[in-house]
Amino acid sequence: MIVVTGATGNVGRRLVRALADGGEKVTAVSRGAAELPDGVRHVRADLGDAASLKGALDGADALFLLIAGEQLVSGEAPERLLEVAEGAGVRRVVLLSSQATVTRPGLVSHARLRAFEDAVRSANAEATVLRPGGFASNSFAWAESVRTRRRVEAPFGGVALPLVDPHDIADVAAAVLREDGHAGRAYTLTGPAAVTPREQVAAIAAAIGEPVAFAELTRAEARERMVAFMPAPVADGTLAIIGEPTAEERAVSPDVARVLGRPAAPFADWAARNAAAFA
Ligand SMILES: NC(=O)c1ccc[n+]([C@@H]2O[C@H](COP(=O)([O-])OP(=O)(O)OC[C@H]3O[C@@H](n4cnc5c(N)ncnc54)[C@H](OP(=O)(O)O)[C@@H]3O)[C@@H](O)[C@H]2O)c1
Repeated sequence: MIVVTGATGNVGRRLVRALADGGEKVTAVSRGAAELPDGVRHVRADLGDAASLKGALDGADALFLLIAGEQLVSGEAPERLLEVAEGAGVRRVVLLSSQATVTRPGLVSHARLRAFEDAVRSANAEATVLRPGGFASNSFAWAESVRTRRRVEAPFGGVALPLVDPHDIADVAAAVLREDGHAGRAYTLTGPAAVTPREQVAAIAAAIGEPVAFAELTRAEARERMVAFMPAPVADGTLAIIGEPTAEERAVSPDVARVLGRPAAPFADWAARNAAAFA
């Protein structure tokens, strides 16, 4: 049995579906309600309380570990969560981390993810770390203003990054959870080409068949909006990456194609699949 945390999010929803379609027994974990494929067990648990995961992990062979929300900046020691998993007999752990753990070793916003990477690697289980760059799904933050005003306001309109489709992350996770040969590896997950916010908006406009205006925000304006829905250190870390990406962060990684045997999906595919959210 495979336990998927973050099961109702951008990555987790697709991962649960891919595993269930592949014939795996799946336990999906989230705090809130979940709409899941037939046959998937749902357990409500909080990553902030490792003991609450015991019921989900009972009888599990493998764990997909996704740290979300406030747990990215505070919470129980990562080792505690891994102890609970080991105690339940988990033999394989796949951690969704971030490329920034290696490109930005000093970032406060990613200290917890670095600690989770250390804990996963020290655990008595096969460990694989997935390190995506920016997600295409971050563009959902623009959905309301595209729907209501056909306008996007964002900073750094000309700075390109190879955004990754969360479905590709999920498909890599499904492969790594099910196949042998990935123990001890870390994969950098990106899209197939770097794309600027202006180009993202053009792809969304093409997907809905309507013009969408782009208005550049200053860094300070963007930060003020971001701290309303994410912890301030996460907002600052994100702004550093999207404003001044390093050469490594701008580069396309071959790892999605290597693991999946097919190319990573371009941003335009993500926009076309999610057009209804912007129409
Ligand atoms: N966005 C990016 O550009 C980017 C880049 C690199 C890495 N990442 C990493 O990707 C992850 C986010 O993935 P995502 O976009 O798929 O997430 P998401 O869409 O925000 O979904 C979060 C999931 O986690 C669950 N969750 C949140 N807090 C929880 C808690 N305390 N206990 C148990 N479950 C909890 C949520 O369900 P409930 O709320 O119902 O519990 C939901 O299922 C983060 O670890 C982030 O660091 C993101």
